[in-house]
Amino acid sequence: MTETPIGASDRILVAGAGGFIGGHLVRELTERGFPNVRAVDIKPLDEWYQHVPGVEERVLDLAEKDACFQASQGMDVVFNLAADMGGMGFIEANKARCMLSVLINTHLLMAAQDLGVRRFFFSSSACVYAADKQDSPEVTALSEEDAYPAMPEDGYGWEKLFSERMCRHYREDFGLITRVARYHNVYGPYGTYDGGREKAPAAICRKVIQAQLDGTHAIEIWGDGEQTRSFTYIDDCLEGTLRLMNSDVVEPLNVGSSELVTINQLVDIVESIAGVSLERRYKLDAPQGVRGRNSDNTRILAELGWEPSIGLRTGLEATYAWIAEQMGLPADAKAAVAAR
Ligand SMILES: NC(=O)c1ccc[n+]([C@@H]2O[C@H](COP(=O)([O-])OP(=O)(O)OC[C@H]3O[C@@H](n4cnc5c(N)ncnc54)[C@H](O)[C@@H]3O)[C@@H](O)[C@H]2O)c1
Repeated sequence: MTETPIGASDRILVAGAGGFIGGHLVRELTERGFPNVRAVDIKPLDEWYQHVPGVEERVLDLAEKDACFQASQGMDVVFNLAADMGGMGFIEANKARCMLSVLINTHLLMAAQDLGVRRFFFSSSACVYAADKQDSPEVTALSEEDAYPAMPEDGYGWEKLFSERMCRHYREDFGLITRVARYHNVYGPYGTYDGGREKAPAAICRKVIQAQLDGTHAIEIWGDGEQTRSFTYIDDCLEGTLRLMNSDVVEPLNVGSSELVTINQLVDIVESIAGVSLERRYKLDAPQGVRGRNSDNTRILAELGWEPSIGLRTGLEATYAWIAEQMGLPADAKAAVAAR
C-alpha cells in the first residue's frame, strides 16, 4: 500500500496521556525521535503518571466535541488511549460511565477527519470477545473473528466494539486511515495500583506488599483463583501499538501475550518475587469477569512478523519494584519478614 507511516516530522496527539499506557506512549515516542508530541488528558497535571520534557501538555475533557477539535488542531497522527475505565471491579460497577467513552472516540474521529489527520489509532480490548467463548478456564485462545456474533463484556466491551466499527466506517466512508489494537491485560510500572480502578497484576502486587507492611501475611483473591488470563507487559504493548500503527493492517488485531496463567499462578509469581508465602482468602462473590481468556497470536505473527514475548515474571519484577517503592516498602522488608 502507498499509505505513509508515521514520520519524524509528524505532529502526534496522544489522548489519555496522563494515564498508564498513554504516559508510556508519550515517553516512547519521544525516545524514538518524534519531537512533536501533544499530550492530553482530563486529569489535572499533578495526577499524570508521567511527564516528558519537551512535550506539550494540555488538560481537556475529550468527551466534548470542541475539546477534541482543539486537541487535534494541527496534528497529523492521533493515538486515542483515553477512556473512563479500570479493572473488573470498576467496569462491572460502572457500565454507563464506560459506555460514555464512546463520546471521546466519536468526537476524536470527527475532529480527525475534519482537520485532515492522516492516521488514527484506537485502543480496543479483549473485552470485545463473545462471552460464550470464554466460559471455561481451559481456553481456546481468541482469534480476531471470535468477536462476532457479538456478545461482548456488557458496558465496557460494547463501547469498544462499537468504537472499533466506527473506526472501520470512518476509514471506508471518509478515507481516514484507522488502526485498532485489541489489548489483552496490559500491566507495568506507572499505572493504577489502588483506588478501585486497578487491574489484577497491580492489585496483587499491592496486596502482597500491604501484607508485608502490616504483617497480616494474608491475601484476598477475587474468585477461586482458577480463572485464566494472559498478561501483556507495557513494553510489548508499545511495540505492538507502533508496529500496528505503521502497518497496512486495517482490521482489529490482538496485541496480547499468549502466556496463559491462573490467578493463583499469578499470585505464586508475585509471592516468589517478594520472597513471602501468604495465607489465601478467596472472595467468591467478587467481580471476576470471564472464566478464561487467552490471545491467539496467529494473525499478528502473520501480519507483523512479531508477537509479545516478554515473560510474565520479568514484567512483574519491574511492576512489583515500582509499586513497592510507591508504597514505601523498605528495601530490607524481605529479610525482616523472613526473620519474624
Ligand atoms: N490497561 C489494560 O489492560 C487495557 C486493556 C485493554 C484496553 N485498554 C485500553 O487502553 C486505553 C488506555 O488504558 P490505560 O490502562 O492506560 O488506562 P488509564 O485509565 O490509565 O488511562 C486512561 C486515561 O484516559 C483519561 N480520560 C478519561 N476520560 C477522559 C476524557 N473525557 N478526556 C480526556 N482524558 C480522559 C483518564 O484520565 C486516564 O488518564 C484505554 O482505552 C483502555 O480501555 C487497556
